[in-house]
Amino acid sequence: MMPEQGKVYIRTFGCQMNVYDSEKIYAFLQDRYIPAATEEEADLILLNTCSIRDKAEQKVYSLLGRLGALKEMNPGILIGVGGCVAQQEGERILKRTTVVDLVFGTHNIHKLPEIIEERLNTGRRVCRVEEDADSVSSSEAPLARSGSDPTSLLTIMKGCDNFCAYCVVPLVRGREVSRAMSEIVDEARYLVDKGVKEITLLGQNVNSYHDPGTGAGFIRLLEIIDSIESLERLRFVTSHPKDFSEALVEAMAGLDTICEHVHLPVQAGSNKVLQGMGRGYTREEYLEKVSVLRELIPDVEITTDIIVGFPGEERDDFEQTLSLIETARYQNAFSFRFSPRPGTAAAQMTQTVSAETRKPWLPELQEAQNHITAEKHAAMVGKVVEVLVEGSGRLQNGKLEGRTRNNFIVHFTGDQALIGKTLDIRIVSSRKIHLNGERVS
Ligand code: SAH
Ligand code: SF4
Ligand code: F3S
Repeated sequence: MMPEQGKVYIRTFGCQMNVYDSEKIYAFLQDRYIPAATEEEADLILLNTCSIRDKAEQKVYSLLGRLGALKEMNPGILIGVGGCVAQQEGERILKRTTVVDLVFGTHNIHKLPEIIEERLNTGRRVCRVEEDADSVSSSEAPLARSGSDPTSLLTIMKGCDNFCAYCVVPLVRGREVSRAMSEIVDEARYLVDKGVKEITLLGQNVNSYHDPGTGAGFIRLLEIIDSIESLERLRFVTSHPKDFSEALVEAMAGLDTICEHVHLPVQAGSNKVLQGMGRGYTREEYLEKVSVLRELIPDVEITTDIIVGFPGEERDDFEQTLSLIETARYQNAFSFRFSPRPGTAAAQMTQTVSAETRKPWLPELQEAQNHITAEKHAAMVGKVVEVLVEGSGRLQNGKLEGRTRNNFIVHFTGDQALIGKTLDIRIVSSRKIHLNGERVS
């Protein structure tokens, strides 16, 4: 039997897909479990895992080690592993550690109450990672989500069909499936009714979204959501450069709610490496899209993802990535050392440059990008910007935190009652990650 009202603690790793899934998990469990403030007070601890890089996966196993100690003191707690490591590793997780009671895949979130029930009733450890036909509709249905954040994520599609040579996502999230447009729009309306001011549409490649019934595409979806009264801001991630069209840039420029920020992962600056990755665009095509963006949307800021040390990448290729970031002038770049992932094409490819030689490339790239970011931050000082106040910030220094439309993070002093408001803020100083500002009265 389940406890009358237990407490659940979810640790979320990885991307916004997982953040969104964790919100759904809380909602699916809300009849039986209320959120716990800490792992120590929880009856059920769930790890929503990420397997994008080896390091992300290792974190899960080291955390499970620590939870084992907690479980020794309190044998009644249940520990579950979900998300992308669960999807990829399945039963192997149960074999590798005895700490885990249940394993559930990315397609089985809606089955979680059943899975927990089964564990409690049979005493057997449970693993459920198979894909089932109803998972898209039933697990994506609009939910009474908790919280009163002014910003919200909204998944518009699952999976990915691109099979970039390095990437595990198509293996752990399955084929690309778009949700029905009517369902997405209903959920957006519901969120706005609840007071949400900013919605971020989520998908691995939002540009290839299409309504399964009518075939209507991403731009149409943006137009409809843009027209929802009281929605202030609309964002979307991730855009795949190969499908990021000039028509979309025009739509962005023309729709009021769409923010002047695009996350456009380039991955590499050399055509040889881009081809090896199977990205489907050249350096030149990518930079052309950047210049169209800059031309049609004057204040636009662009962020990116970069992989350093892909198999076959030489110093000369890497230098082309360095020169590309100087041309693109990103607001921010998330850069990673290539990590071979089981089941991907790149895991079979051979490196031509030693690991030792490649090692300093990532910090070199990050330093170059930090310099660009610092220049952009410094250029903001003195400007008055429109900030949507999101909360009290990660620094926990008593300041409020918000974002400009074009994705600068701003801290300023103010009352908690301002959360959810859009304010004019004058930028007074710049820091590495954020800007400091003060209210303009
Ligand atoms: N769908 C998004 C990104 C998904 S993963 C896209 O298409 O861009 C987020 C980022 O992790 C990727 O953009 C890539 O830069 C990085 N990444 C993915 N697989 C990786 C690997 N095997 N090694 C290192 N970085 C990786
Ligand atoms: Fe991975 Fe490529 Fe799909 Fe992005 S587009 S999720 S990098 S396979
Ligand atoms: Fe990680 Fe899965 Fe997202 S592998 S990056 S949590 S889709």
